[in-house]
Amino acid sequence: MPLSFMKTKKIVALDIGSFGLKLIELKPKKKGKEISYELLSMAYEPVPYQSIVEGSIMDSTAVADAIQHVFLESKTKTNSVSFGVSGSSVIVKRIDVQRLNPNEMHEHILWEARPHIPFTPEEVNIDYEIIESQDTPPDKVGVILAAVKKEKLNDYLNIIAISNKHAAIVDLDSFAVLNSVLSNYEMYRERSLAIINIGASITNVVIARGGYPVFVRDIAFGGNHFTDHIQKELNLKYEKAESVKKGRQVEGVSPAAVKQVVNLIFNELKNEIKKTFEFYRSNTNEGRIDNILLSGGTAKLESIIDYFSQEFDIPIEIINPFNEIEINPKKFDLDFLKDMAPIFNVVMGLALRAVGDAK
Ligand SMILES: Nc1ncnc2c1ncn2[C@@H]1O[C@H](COP(=O)(O)OP(=O)(O)OP(=O)(O)O)[C@@H](O)[C@H]1O
Ligand SMILES: [Mg+2]
Repeated sequence: MPLSFMKTKKIVALDIGSFGLKLIELKPKKKGKEISYELLSMAYEPVPYQSIVEGSIMDSTAVADAIQHVFLESKTKTNSVSFGVSGSSVIVKRIDVQRLNPNEMHEHILWEARPHIPFTPEEVNIDYEIIESQDTPPDKVGVILAAVKKEKLNDYLNIIAISNKHAAIVDLDSFAVLNSVLSNYEMYRERSLAIINIGASITNVVIARGGYPVFVRDIAFGGNHFTDHIQKELNLKYEKAESVKKGRQVEGVSPAAVKQVVNLIFNELKNEIKKTFEFYRSNTNEGRIDNILLSGGTAKLESIIDYFSQEFDIPIEIINPFNEIEINPKKFDLDFLKDMAPIFNVVMGLALRAVGDAK
């Protein structure tokens, strides 16, 4: 599915989030047919407030500086980057198309895709993946279409170029979270999963069945909404609101008052997710969801599992993207890794795909 710009041996994955940049580089290791991955480098760098707003780059200089910092911090020598996009400039649709000869399929899929993409072909880059699922009649094939607005892609390519790095692959954040889950939790491959990656400004919801995405939606809602409301309701500065949201004590602020605001905003998020599940169920004949898996910085919100459990009668878990990754404890701080794990889910998916893709 990811668009490749160049073939290169070494690729480092970079998640350009609006709250923070995450970098991961993996080393693939082959043992017979088995392939495992070792963590080569990882780093985190905060992004200055409002330099990226809902996936759009507002302050290129600040973001490019942060990119250079995260590379320095990671000590990687690799310059080729795999990155992800999400938000309103990304469209993902699942369609069924007539099964034709393999050499006719490419043109046929692009033609069939047209009415499903609300932009002109000149405005977007389109990619697709054919899925062989049991839900599709034998004369048809399931196709997952992904379209990214060129304007948005160009902004990201530009920021990578001014940071003196080379863009090698672009993927979707939502496909990356799924990829990370499937690589780290073999047992989930055959299940119907709802993966919810809650960032600062965007929540990616991916519903997958048998290892394939069947429904994807990016919701413009995330941790920023919690912070904004805490700021307004409790009359606090941004930094203090961020702090109390993360459960830290701040003089003069009552934890009960914070909890009340968090509750209120959580209800809004929960409703958005409920609507997404309902939409998915009304568009498919198989609406079952076996597990809900959470990641993203906002999944670190205290009591998040309790909040979700009150609404959904489905097992809920927070994902650890380092679950199956070999880590040298002499090189990495395991406590830091454990603490940051949910935040590194997107970038882990990008990194796994990048090494899988590299020739
Ligand atoms: N311990 C915590 N408790 C609550 N929220 C937290 C905690 N740690 C981080 N967050 C929140 O997580 C969000 C950042 O998460 P993440 O790094 O996944 O977002 P991002 O990828 O930078 O943003 P986006 O993808 O939405 O542009 C912020 O809103 C931050 O306040
Ligand atoms: Mg993100």
